[in-house]
Amino acid sequence: MNTNKSVQLLQDTFDINAIYALKIVGMVDPLNLLEEAKILIEEKPKPFVKWVGGKRQLLKQFRLMNLYPPEKFNIKTGRYFEPFVGGGAVFFDLLPEKSFLSDLNSDLIKTYNVIKSDVEKLISFLKEYEYEKEFFLKVRSMQPKNLPDIHIASRFIYLNRTCFNGMYRVNSKGEFNVPFGKYSNPLICDEVNLRRVSKALQNVEINCQDYKMIIKKARKGDFVYFDPPYYPINKTSSFTTYTKEAFLDKEQIELKDTYLELHKKGCFVMLSNSNTPFINKIYNELVKYGIKINEVLAGRAINSKGAKRGKITEVLVTNY
Ligand SMILES: C[S@@+](CC[C@H](N)C(=O)[O-])C[C@H]1O[C@@H](n2cnc3c(N)ncnc32)[C@H](O)[C@@H]1O
Repeated sequence: MNTNKSVQLLQDTFDINAIYALKIVGMVDPLNLLEEAKILIEEKPKPFVKWVGGKRQLLKQFRLMNLYPPEKFNIKTGRYFEPFVGGGAVFFDLLPEKSFLSDLNSDLIKTYNVIKSDVEKLISFLKEYEYEKEFFLKVRSMQPKNLPDIHIASRFIYLNRTCFNGMYRVNSKGEFNVPFGKYSNPLICDEVNLRRVSKALQNVEINCQDYKMIIKKARKGDFVYFDPPYYPINKTSSFTTYTKEAFLDKEQIELKDTYLELHKKGCFVMLSNSNTPFINKIYNELVKYGIKINEVLAGRAINSKGAKRGKITEVLVTNY
């Protein structure tokens, strides 16, 4: 069977994206394609943090709408950039060999790097954490900047697993302030997945930096996915603060300019945002360059009130 047919067979059988299917074809014995692929897919790493705005459930929709991954992106020659990485849903879906992950949240990036370089020590630290309110408050009150990276990483994963809704929110001083969450038995140390993640990160460059820094590195044929903090739907819906820095009108306009710059370089660029008049207005300026604003369903709840939950839309801006 030729490569294209094998990729198609894997996609039809396992409901996976074409880039990951191609990667699997390169890893398995062609005579045992489906059996070996099944094992690899079962052992695929997944995001190690819950992240508000995580894209996992939306990727299938993007794929069915033919918006993702870009058909012409060549995984052998092109590299992948996720400069607002958060939980890294798209990275873990594609698992490209040559990837650059970054974010402005330094505790998150330190956690990625500790998983990459010191996963066994991290696992042994995480095993000492308890799911108990007093313990949680004590861990929460620690100042990460005074701690070694291994403590920052284990604290970060612990708080993510045990705080209310896995949210990440800091006050103006940068102190984490999400309350204790009620769970029946939260999995604080998912050691199997952490080892898989560590393996997947071995050739990945991970940096704490502003998204604009990637302009220097990205080149023709690379694929960039932007998942910035969303523009608020209304005044009260700014539901989360990932970093001390705001991301409002001025920042969204700068991001749109960065999008255009990467488009002109010949990168494949995909961007998520809320479906609001402001976002539509700024990206409409790029339509003359062949950029498309696609409306997609967001199956997630932003408002906590039940009645407001449900089928809201968001946009996926693509240039391919
Ligand atoms: C919507 S979340 C990304 C969600 C992620 N794609 C996922 O699947 O979990 C936005 C991320 O942008 C980061 N961020 C905010 N401002 C930034 C900036 N100027 N440069 C880079 N990252 C930034 C936040 O720390 C946060 O992790």
